[in-house]
Amino acid sequence: MADLNTIYMGIEMRNPLVVASCSLVNSVEGVQRCADAGAGAVVLKSLFEEQIEADTKEIQRHVWLAGHTEAYDYVRQIGIQTGEQDYLNLMERAKKAVSIPVIASLNCITPTWWTDYARRLENAGADGIELNIAILPSDPQRSSNEIEKLYYSILEGVAKNVGIPIAIKIGPYFTSLASVGRELCSRGASALVLFNRFYQLDINVDKLTLVPGYHFSTPEEINISLRWISLLAGRIECDLSATTGVHDAMGVAKQLLAGATTVQVCSTLYKHGIGHLANILSNLESWMKKHHFESVSQFRGKLSQKESEKPELYERLQYVKSLVGIE
Ligand SMILES: Cc1cc2nc3c(=O)[nH]c(=O)nc-3n(C[C@H](O)[C@H](O)[C@H](O)COP(=O)(O)O)c2cc1C
Repeated sequence: MADLNTIYMGIEMRNPLVVASCSLVNSVEGVQRCADAGAGAVVLKSLFEEQIEADTKEIQRHVWLAGHTEAYDYVRQIGIQTGEQDYLNLMERAKKAVSIPVIASLNCITPTWWTDYARRLENAGADGIELNIAILPSDPQRSSNEIEKLYYSILEGVAKNVGIPIAIKIGPYFTSLASVGRELCSRGASALVLFNRFYQLDINVDKLTLVPGYHFSTPEEINISLRWISLLAGRIECDLSATTGVHDAMGVAKQLLAGATTVQVCSTLYKHGIGHLANILSNLESWMKKHHFESVSQFRGKLSQKESEKPELYERLQYVKSLVGIE
């Protein structure tokens, strides 16, 4: 049997396949089913900062607060505690139910509120914390520098308060992704999760309205993450976890060859069911056997830019010949 053992952010895992943060892992039963189907680890559904804000606003509607800043802060604190209490309970119960690592996920948009919670999640048994930071750089008045600083201050706020490893899940919208990645690692991140797939926007041209795009990824979407995993592997001081567009064992193999330490799956489990995890793992093992790989460490990063004799191939953005050749 192939050796799939993996160490991700210092956490020992039986294999590199992680169930990404999503509603399938929003309950103890969901986590249990993923563990039974063979997952190496799960990342719980994120606790959203905006969700807590919404809870707070609901409480506020019942309390007269005009002009009372301290009272507002107090109520906000209650809202946060309510939202977080459910999440802490989920973490505690999930940890009791399964023996695989369970990683908490916090969706952060400001640096202020998470530091204390992160510690409480650690006390509830979280093996690690994934900070899902999603800031769209859409404001023309806001420089990339300003936005990057926000990422750093969210990370540092949490990092100074917990002993468990922290992963940062980001999108691809950075002016200089490689330098931001390096900076995040030097400021306390143990892993980068590349890349979050944001809410998709579409337009209905008959009704002339905005509509939600397709919720789930397609296998073709693997390429952005594959490119950046292969470029960054071995070049920055932290682990890389691949997410978006991995639907089968070959997707997992590609990401491991590119240099990912772990590979996260979500859409494919909605499509084929949680039991699909077992198929992915057995097909990965067959592929390893075919290529005479006995362990993941034998081929992880084999096709990263760092290991390549032709690193320039990884930086090619325009295939002039093939583009010109297409009739
Ligand atoms: C229904 C659904 C809910 C999700 N919820 C979260 C979430 O709470 N936090 C998060 O970081 N990512 C969330 N994601 C994103 C996934 O974790 C994953 O990064 C993304 O779907 C890309 O992976 P995939 O191509 O395997 O689907 C969600 C995705 C889906 C489809």
